[in-house]
Amino acid sequence: MRLRTDQFAAKKLAARPERVVILDPKANVSLMPHATHPKVAVELGCGKGGFITQLAPKHPNVHYFAFEKFETILVKALHKYDRNPVPNVTFVSGDATMIDALLPVKSVDAFYLNFSDPWPKARHEKRRLTTPERLKKYHHLLKDDGIIHLKTDNRSLFFYSLVTLQKSGFEIIQWTKDLAGSGWENTLTEFEIRYGKDFPIHALKARKKG
Ligand SMILES: C[S@@+](CC[C@H](N)C(=O)[O-])C[C@H]1O[C@@H](n2cnc3c(N)ncnc32)[C@H](O)[C@@H]1O
Repeated sequence: MRLRTDQFAAKKLAARPERVVILDPKANVSLMPHATHPKVAVELGCGKGGFITQLAPKHPNVHYFAFEKFETILVKALHKYDRNPVPNVTFVSGDATMIDALLPVKSVDAFYLNFSDPWPKARHEKRRLTTPERLKKYHHLLKDDGIIHLKTDNRSLFFYSLVTLQKSGFEIIQWTKDLAGSGWENTLTEFEIRYGKDFPIHALKARKKG
């Protein structure tokens, strides 16, 4: 996902406080006041926003928080959103790993991890979004029976996540090594449209236990 840096990206995001929350690690921020509904879903690493801008209009009774750490990319998502604006989306500009400071315990119905960076080298394991430490945060934030949806073209990240999820209080309720042939309902992301034909897409749904 190579993009020319938009030097005005920060300004463009700051000009949209009704739609974009800009994270400041030094300030206390709560996302809940932005939610239009008590049902909440979170996408970690939304990229150019194709997934969330398709899903949100179909589920007006869910509020979607879409995190993206690169401002230039988030501006693209915001442009996409503006073509079909709906009230139930908030973009969050910043590092999604801060999420536990932003939402109350047991407030999230679902997390979506779509083509998260795989960080294949063992020495970079801590950067993955599905380390046991990070799954513990998502577990706290999920409501009872809350779900993590994950899809990836990276086999290693998939099997790594299958293991860490089960060790972190989640039960795998469905998984597939071939999302396209699985018959599952699927909302395509930009990454998936671009690279999904080159590699089989692995996907899983994991439910929070106890
Ligand atoms: C491979 S792209 C996939 C984007 C999108 N989900 C898709 O499927 O088209 C991964 C995205 O996650 C973002 N990302 C990775 N780690 C993040 C983090 N800790 N917080 C917020 N965004 C993150 C990256 O900047 C990038 O845009």
